Parts: sequence; C-alpha cells; structure tokens
Amino acid sequence: METEQARGRGLTAADAKRFYDSIGKKQDVQFYENRALSALIAFSDFGAARSVFEFGCGTGRFAVELLGKHLSADCTYRGIDISETMIRLCTERLAAWNDRAKAELVSGPISIDTPDNSYDRFVSTYVLDLLSERDTERVLSEAHRILKPGGLLCIVSLTRGDTPFCKLVSAAWMKLFTFKPYWVGGCRPVDVGKSLDPNRWEKAHDEVISAFGISSEVLAARAVKREA
Ligand SMILES: C[S@@+](CC[C@H](N)C(=O)[O-])C[C@H]1O[C@@H](n2cnc3c(N)ncnc32)[C@H](O)[C@@H]1O
Repeated sequence: METEQARGRGLTAADAKRFYDSIGKKQDVQFYENRALSALIAFSDFGAARSVFEFGCGTGRFAVELLGKHLSADCTYRGIDISETMIRLCTERLAAWNDRAKAELVSGPISIDTPDNSYDRFVSTYVLDLLSERDTERVLSEAHRILKPGGLLCIVSLTRGDTPFCKLVSAAWMKLFTFKPYWVGGCRPVDVGKSLDPNRWEKAHDEVISAFGISSEVLAARAVKREA
C-alpha cells in the first residue's frame, strides 16, 4: 500500500530501496546527467584529494570515472547505498581498485559511521533530489562533520531550470512526482545551494546545467570549521 509520503511527498526509504533494487543497471542510462557530472569533476579538484566519500553511490559509475581518470593512485574511495542491487553492481565495478575502494550497504536513519574530519571530498549525485528536506539536512550535517576543514562538498541534483522550456519540463516533472513519485524514481527539482548554511559552507561553485530541458544544479562548497 502506498504511504502518504509516497503519494504526495516522495518515496519513503523503503520505497526508494525497492525502486533502486529493481532498476539496477538501467540507472546508468540517464541521458541528461553527463554534462552536469563532467562539470562537477571540473570544479572539484579530485586530483588533490586523498579520500573520497560518496553518499548513494548507485552502480558505481561515478566512482569508476573518478578512480579510473581523476583520483591519485593513493586516494581511497568509500561509497554507501541503501540498495543491495546497487551495492552488488558497484562492488563488481570496484574490483580493480579493491585495495583502496569499497561500497557498503546501509540502512536505517541517515547517520554515517565515520569519524569527524576524515574525508577530503563528500560526493552525492542525483540523490538529495529524492530525499525529504529533513533527510537532506541530515546528509549535509553528516557531510560537514566527516569532511576535513576546507574539504569539498560535491553535489549534483535535479533542479528547476530558468528558460521557458526548462520551466515547462520542471513543472511537468513536479506534476508526475506529485501524482506518482515512483515514475520519476522519487526525484524532483530541488535547490541544495540555497539550503546551505553560510556559517558552515563556503560556496566554490554553483551553476545550473540543462540538457533536453532537464536541469541539474552543480554545487561545490568548502566545509568551514571555525575553532570553538
Ligand atoms: C538516482 S540514483 C543515483 C545513483 C548515483 N549517485 C548516480 O548518480 O548514478 C539514487 C541512489 O541513491 C540511493 N539512495 C536513496 N536513498 C538513500 C539513502 N537514504 N542512503 C543511501 N543511499 C540512498 C539509491 O539506492 C540509488 O542508488
């Protein structure tokens, strides 16, 4: 039975897990995502990172891109996801780097089992757009906690476009999301940049990139950690 959240305000974590368990590799044929992901790489200086954390790693396609082309040979990678299918696919893909890259299944309320100040990059692509506002706040709070001072938050999310065509597509997407969130994987346009607390994050880059009328926000922000 659909929950109230599934009908009107997105998927519950259980619904999302079921959806992503069922689509598996099909997740990788999202034609509108490539330009935004390339822009994220261009603005995130991954070559300087020694440790990368990914929230919602999916099939591991972004991890493979990073490990194969952009991360230094001594950089570690850790991805987490709630979907068993995604973790299986991601683990298979990470086999070539299994001495320094791993993917882990997580469940329950959002809480990342990692000490404070331990990562140089916190990556999440096309995940915050499917979380509730409260869960997005939790992810951002955990990202801030586990990033080293000056570490970079690297986010791509669906967002609202600003051309007339993109606005039309966003409006149609929202209608679908409201009517049947499952049809759009529980995702809807959000604005993560606006929700960042300027006392905790210093934006390094925030732009909207559109492809086929679908708009993505590409956001990079440094963790600001003032001494108490
Ligand atoms: C739209 S897919 C994006 C996957 C990947 N980041 C990409 O760009 O291809 C969303 C992913 O987030 C995962 N996910 C959803 N809710 C999550 C949560 N609470 N914790 C961790 N992963 C989650 C899903 O299982 C799915 O793999």
